[in-house]
Amino acid sequence: MIVILGAAGQTGTAALRRLKALGVPARAMVSRPESADKVRAAGATDVVLGNLKSAADVRRALEGASRVYHICPVMSDAEIPIGQNVIAAARAERVDQLVFHSLIHAQVDALLHHRDKRVVEGLIIESLIPYTFLQPTMYMQNMLWEWDNVTQRGVYRAPYATGARMSLVDLEDIACAAATVLTEPGWDGGGFELCSGDNLTRDEMAATIGDVLGRPVRAEAYAIDEWRPIGAKTRTPFQVERVATMYAHYDRYGLSGGNARVLAMILGRTPTTYREFVARVARERGAA
Ligand SMILES: NC(=O)c1ccc[n+]([C@@H]2O[C@H](COP(=O)([O-])OP(=O)(O)OC[C@H]3O[C@@H](n4cnc5c(N)ncnc54)[C@H](OP(=O)(O)O)[C@@H]3O)[C@@H](O)[C@H]2O)c1
Repeated sequence: MIVILGAAGQTGTAALRRLKALGVPARAMVSRPESADKVRAAGATDVVLGNLKSAADVRRALEGASRVYHICPVMSDAEIPIGQNVIAAARAERVDQLVFHSLIHAQVDALLHHRDKRVVEGLIIESLIPYTFLQPTMYMQNMLWEWDNVTQRGVYRAPYATGARMSLVDLEDIACAAATVLTEPGWDGGGFELCSGDNLTRDEMAATIGDVLGRPVRAEAYAIDEWRPIGAKTRTPFQVERVATMYAHYDRYGLSGGNARVLAMILGRTPTTYREFVARVARERGAA
């Protein structure tokens, strides 16, 4: 049995949809009862309710598991203790493979949530559990937070420089890659950066979006202090500080890098480009 932790988020539901398309059963762990229907609709054949911060709950979620896909909730204040719970449960269950949803550039200490994932990668290596690390770059889907502004006002706003170069990947490609490493043999011991090969500035992303929509779109940067109250509407103070630190880093260095050959090897095809992604979203949302 494949077990997906953190299954109700965008990453988990995308992976569940892909496994469902392949006819592969999967158990999903959710922390809120109202998420059970969501993960079942995405394809979960079994649902366990529990908190990743509870070692006993994680142990219960992994009962009978052969493969585990650990997706820690984004910007968690407990990334490392949750990782330790998952490792302890996976070891007790003698799982065949622990797939950890990590991040690109885990080497960069200033990106605090990347650093935490690097620590968890190290703990997994030392656990001697067969592992696979998926290290995606920034999801193309992050632009969708701004979709209404982009389509209605022709402005793509974010609190970092419009010239910062960002490596991008389509979440649907990540889900395909996750399903492959979870269902096919031969991916143990690998750390796979997942990138499309598109390293674009937001000026370039806005130009691509405008091209696809057939109307002008421009990128705009605004101050991180202006973003904080916006971020605080949906995030804890801990998460606001983490995201603010990340944006400050993006502003200075961007998030470029990663090599698309890795994802192409796993997918057996060329990864989705940013232009293809925007065209697909525009079609789905009737904006093209
Ligand atoms: N967005 C990007 O560009 C990007 C790029 C690379 C990597 N990542 C990484 O991808 C990972 C997943 O991101 P995401 O956006 O899919 O995740 P997410 O929206 O944070 O979703 C994770 C799910 O975990 C569940 N959850 C929250 N707290 C929990 C707890 N204490 N116990 C059990 N479940 C809990 C929540 O659902 P319920 O509470 O309903 O169960 C939530 O839907 C993150 O670690 C992020 O760093 C993101």
